[in-house]
Amino acid sequence: MSYTSNSTANPVQEFKSFASLSDEQAGARIIEARARLGQRVVLLAHHYQRESVYRYADLTGDSLKLARLAARTDAEFILFCGVHFMAEVADILSRPEQTVILPDLAAGCSMADMADLEKVERCWGELTNALGTIEARITPVTYINSAADLKAFCGERGGIVCTSTNAPAIIDWALSRREKVLFFPDQHLGRWTGYKKGIPLDQMAVWDPNLENGGLTAKEIEHARILLWKGHCSVHQMFQVEHIRQWRVQYPDGFVISHPECNLDVCRESDHVGSTEFILETVTAAPPDTRWLVGTELNLVSRLAEQLKAQGKIIKFMAPTMCMCSTMQRIDPQHLAWALENLANGNIVNPIRVPAREAEQARTALTRMLETF
Ligand code: 13P
Ligand code: SF4
Repeated sequence: MSYTSNSTANPVQEFKSFASLSDEQAGARIIEARARLGQRVVLLAHHYQRESVYRYADLTGDSLKLARLAARTDAEFILFCGVHFMAEVADILSRPEQTVILPDLAAGCSMADMADLEKVERCWGELTNALGTIEARITPVTYINSAADLKAFCGERGGIVCTSTNAPAIIDWALSRREKVLFFPDQHLGRWTGYKKGIPLDQMAVWDPNLENGGLTAKEIEHARILLWKGHCSVHQMFQVEHIRQWRVQYPDGFVISHPECNLDVCRESDHVGSTEFILETVTAAPPDTRWLVGTELNLVSRLAEQLKAQGKIIKFMAPTMCMCSTMQRIDPQHLAWALENLANGNIVNPIRVPAREAEQARTALTRMLETF
């Protein structure tokens, strides 16, 4: 069967006919369409995906693992259950004849949206005015949670991509080449990583993209070793150090594990800090009957709690209010069934295609990361 993007050869089924399906009905259609597609499709899912989607995944992971999986799969179609920047990475790292599909294009990342090319280019220009020969002095480092054009920006300027797993090694790499780092878009991952490296807080200045010169004086820019873009993940900002202190009173022998997108105080007070894959592995490998307070997205925490309760493990979400990543939630069984059934009928809906030139430069920054760390 030949495949077309939204072609009329085999009429494209509209999403509206899937919207009213129950999760069970959508699940049956997912299974049926997958069986028709066989090995031609692989389903990759991030750990924050809801259970009713995650259960259909062939492979799961954090951002780094998913990037590596996308780079080595032979499947013709990569159905990506995650957010837009992850699907872009999969497209950049997969072969040209492979197609990446994101079941709902509204599945973005609000943190990634806090930095755009226009603002980063303006920042670079202002830093050039302040520092002179900028490319000899600053390495741009983008968290993987960013649009492809920002990865391309880094690729073109000797910069690199990092993930929550390899940020410490990447910062070492960057600072061994040039004296400063411009880190975007997550100030918290950048600050925690710099802090762990022993960089004093006063040498990690926050760059506010909405202010002239980032709101910094020339002296502050000169003094900084890491310039932290003023971006954050609103899900991880819910977790506060008071939640950890209350937990420690209630369970003095309990453990605390957090994602590095949490604020510095939360990371400092945690027993372990790491990526979603690290959190999953650490809590899973812990002895039975241990208690865990977890500072990351609710779907992951609820799944872990359910899976490990038979081992007597008590696993709690760090914040008192339940809040999921609303963009990860956009991928539901109905959208997955819609994308898969169209694919099985010969129609590609929601392909993710990064423009060739941008993809090439972004690949430079991603490959630097994947080959070095
Ligand atoms: P991980 O790479 O640790 O899975 O993190 C991705 C993310 O978006 C966390 O909010
Ligand atoms: Fe983005 Fe935060 Fe959602 Fe992760 S949890 S995908 S950083 S909005």
